Amino acid sequence: MLERVLSLRRAAPPHGDETAADQGDGAADESKTKKQQLPLTTRAAYYLTRMGPIGPCLAFLFLTFLAIVSLLLFHSRNFVCVSSSYYDPVSRSRFFGFDGLESDFGSLGVPWCRPRHGKIVEWTSKDLLKGLEEFIPIYEARPIKNNMYGMGFDHSFGLWFIARWLKPNLMIESGAFKGHSTWVLRQAMPDTPIVSLSPRHPEKYLKKGPAYVDGNCTYFAGKDFVDFGSVNWGSVMKKHRITDLSQVLIFFDDHQNELRRIKQALKVGFRHLVFEDNYDTGTGDHYSLRQICDQLYIRGGGHSCFKDSDEARIRSTRKKFWEKAVDIEELCGPGEAWWGVRGYMRDNFNHSNQPISYKEHFQNSRFLESILDVYWELPPVAGPSLTHQTRYDPARAPSPIVEDGRYGLFQRLGLTRLETSVFNGYTQMVYIQISKREF
Ligand SMILES: C[S@@+](CC[C@H](N)C(=O)[O-])C[C@H]1O[C@@H](n2cnc3c(N)ncnc32)[C@H](O)[C@@H]1O
Repeated sequence: MLERVLSLRRAAPPHGDETAADQGDGAADESKTKKQQLPLTTRAAYYLTRMGPIGPCLAFLFLTFLAIVSLLLFHSRNFVCVSSSYYDPVSRSRFFGFDGLESDFGSLGVPWCRPRHGKIVEWTSKDLLKGLEEFIPIYEARPIKNNMYGMGFDHSFGLWFIARWLKPNLMIESGAFKGHSTWVLRQAMPDTPIVSLSPRHPEKYLKKGPAYVDGNCTYFAGKDFVDFGSVNWGSVMKKHRITDLSQVLIFFDDHQNELRRIKQALKVGFRHLVFEDNYDTGTGDHYSLRQICDQLYIRGGGHSCFKDSDEARIRSTRKKFWEKAVDIEELCGPGEAWWGVRGYMRDNFNHSNQPISYKEHFQNSRFLESILDVYWELPPVAGPSLTHQTRYDPARAPSPIVEDGRYGLFQRLGLTRLETSVFNGYTQMVYIQISKREF
């Protein structure tokens, strides 16, 4: 599995390398409807001259009408943007335009963690698009249709894709809830054993409605629950005849401090980890990789608490349109502490909340970089003008697999068949590969 991950960071953008999925895109359809035609101005002049002296009068009236309508539209646009409902996708796209959705965050950019040798994953945007085409019908057949508080579509696809690509010999999940993620892992790898850790056994949910319990899964759940950090992994590996820990994939959706989870995984020797919730700085209920890596020397990282700064202005604008965006007041705690969540390291669904100094926060990122071989954030499946998601700010996320404006492709893939709510749970799921520090 190790060899399946190669060098260089961030895959090339998807343009030009889409699969057959691309065939139904609007751009492709255009050629079918285009006819050889004279320029509009030439045709207009031709009709006006045929009308005689009334022609110029009509033209003048038409132009005056156009000018009035444009003026009205211009002013009402500003009015709608500033004072209409927050998170309204229509006013958002009017305000930013499709291009502005991503670029308006400007210098703040998309943060990330630096792997020590600059390696990236071997899969490309073309592979993701192909996977998406395959996964949509699988997702439509999911047993738990309403998975509120669990994974939505984007992360279900990400987990399925990663598991299927890496082909591990054992899959471990921490945080099962009703069992949706267990079901996703099973769809990716039909015969691979799973180990699932969760305080409440998924079978308990069966009494109230749909849940998923897997037949080839060892549950450390209910009265048998053991936290990931306390499991005797040596004996679990022996039971599953695993001798090479790089053949194991671990999925964390337990809302625990990710630095602690990485240290625990490192101690055992696990190498391939996926974190479902990779919260941006200032958000979320546990210390995440994104938060840890958010440093002044990282592009898109390090923040200014100065109220008159460009960052403050951009943040306050973005906050009007995206639920998860944070403005400068929310970002900065006392003493201009912007790291973590207002200078705090949250843990365990925010049941624990420890202040952390900038020095400690900085040391955490250096530690992480010293053991990080690969860092890959799952892109959102599609742009917000297509999915109508209203939560995450697209300017703080990698470019979506199906970009804004590509409705033809979105529709052809079957994504229009899914309810809008399944696109609302994106929190930058991340796959990392770690290895012991070399001295
Ligand atoms: C967000 S839910 C998981 C959703 C699930 N992965 C899905 O896709 O539907 C978080 C789960 O973590 C469980 N949890 C809480 N503390 C935990 C711990 N220390 N270890 C493992 N799971 C934990 C919760 O009981 C809950 O079931």
